[in-house]
Amino acid sequence: MTDYQIRIAQESEHRAANAMFRGTMHEPPIGDDRWERVSRAYQPNRLLAAFEGDDVIGIARSVDFGLGFPGGKQVPIAAVAAVGVRADRTRRGIATELIRRQLAEAGERGMTMAALHASEAVIYGRHGYGVATQERTVILDRKRAKVRNRVTDGRVDLYDLADAVTILPEVYARFEGSRVGMITRPSYLWAIWEEVLNEQPQQVARVAVYRGLDGVEGFAAYRVNNPWPEDGDAVLHLLDMVTGSDEAYRALWQFLIGVDLVDKIKAWARPLDEPIEPMLVDSRACTTQHIGDEVWLRLIDVESALRARAYQPGTGVVIEVVDTVLPQNSGRYAVSADGVERTDAPAGLTMDAEVLAMLYLGAWRASALARAGRISVADPAALAAADAVFAAEQVPWCGTFF
Ligand SMILES: CC(C)(COP(=O)(O)OP(=O)(O)OC[C@H]1O[C@@H](n2cnc3c(N)ncnc32)[C@H](O)[C@@H]1OP(=O)(O)O)[C@@H](O)C(=O)NCCC(=O)NCCS
Repeated sequence: MTDYQIRIAQESEHRAANAMFRGTMHEPPIGDDRWERVSRAYQPNRLLAAFEGDDVIGIARSVDFGLGFPGGKQVPIAAVAAVGVRADRTRRGIATELIRRQLAEAGERGMTMAALHASEAVIYGRHGYGVATQERTVILDRKRAKVRNRVTDGRVDLYDLADAVTILPEVYARFEGSRVGMITRPSYLWAIWEEVLNEQPQQVARVAVYRGLDGVEGFAAYRVNNPWPEDGDAVLHLLDMVTGSDEAYRALWQFLIGVDLVDKIKAWARPLDEPIEPMLVDSRACTTQHIGDEVWLRLIDVESALRARAYQPGTGVVIEVVDTVLPQNSGRYAVSADGVERTDAPAGLTMDAEVLAMLYLGAWRASALARAGRISVADPAALAAADAVFAAEQVPWCGTFF
């Protein structure tokens, strides 16, 4: 039996909470210099902690941001940046209590959804989170990779991180709604961005910025490990690339492929439909290393969340949602291009909150989830209708680490 209390941690307790969380990830505490940077990623009053006496034994931390939809609509989201329980106190329900309190408090603040990146796939489904976007990590053999149709207009300039963070927030804000699943980046997320890029102090991080006719149209942030390899490869790790035009996209890849003393480019967490292979003379210079879950979403207020997105034309569908964690969401919803209503009409499909989150941005088709045994089907015609109505115009992708 563990006697603990859950409450919002004070700012003076953030560092101890950070050290405890890093311990759950098998990482050592950080020094004063780094804490100065990391502490900027903490939004006040968003760190829920479980205390045993004065000791932090578990945390669930979030920051607020917006999820964008084409057309400029944005919904408020709680970005869950850290969940961890000290190894000697796991498997006794502490994370469950932290996560449920966090969802309840985010709901009270008017957050429509919560989102996170999961360390393991088995943790969050039971709390109603589902895989809403996916990512692809690719490796380019730099010496084989050549861009077919080279961009000759515009120019690429290189910045160090300190200079880049002064210009990128404004640049990113112009592109943040360009794909379903992209999010706003408040200052807390730029602090996490700096931390991720600075994580390997022996590798210098750089940001390439493309300027075309309309000013800055995209950027790519990377670092290179092991530029003088005795064995293995020198690898350029592309950690963040956001572009607002096709020219910027190709020009930045051209630039990255041209960086010397690099054998391979590893581009992390890219969209599944990124057209790298058809851009290259030798399409096999690019290989997929990994495809997996990117962002997990939790619809906290299902009705508001369903109303926030637009739907494809079609006959519409009535779905029944079973939400055991937030039972106020349970019920039937009529979803069509005309809008979303709660209804008493019979439902063609029944699903839990996790599966609804998987459908929500269009990453998964209802028919595929039914085939996987995750949706119960009362009316087979409703499956085709759900496929049509929930379809996304683009493959959803977030592209921001938090
Ligand atoms: C993941 C973590 C926070 C779970 O904390 P916890 O307090 O043990 O979780 P709970 O006791 O509330 O677990 C609730 C249920 O989820 C299951 N579960 C939780 N974490 C699990 C894991 N990593 N693997 C498998 N099952 C897990 C538990 O077995 C339990 O199932 P049950 O209700 O059927 O018994 C904790 O294991 C941890 O800190 N892990 C390392 C850091 C990490 O990966 N954090 C997540 C970052 S995204």
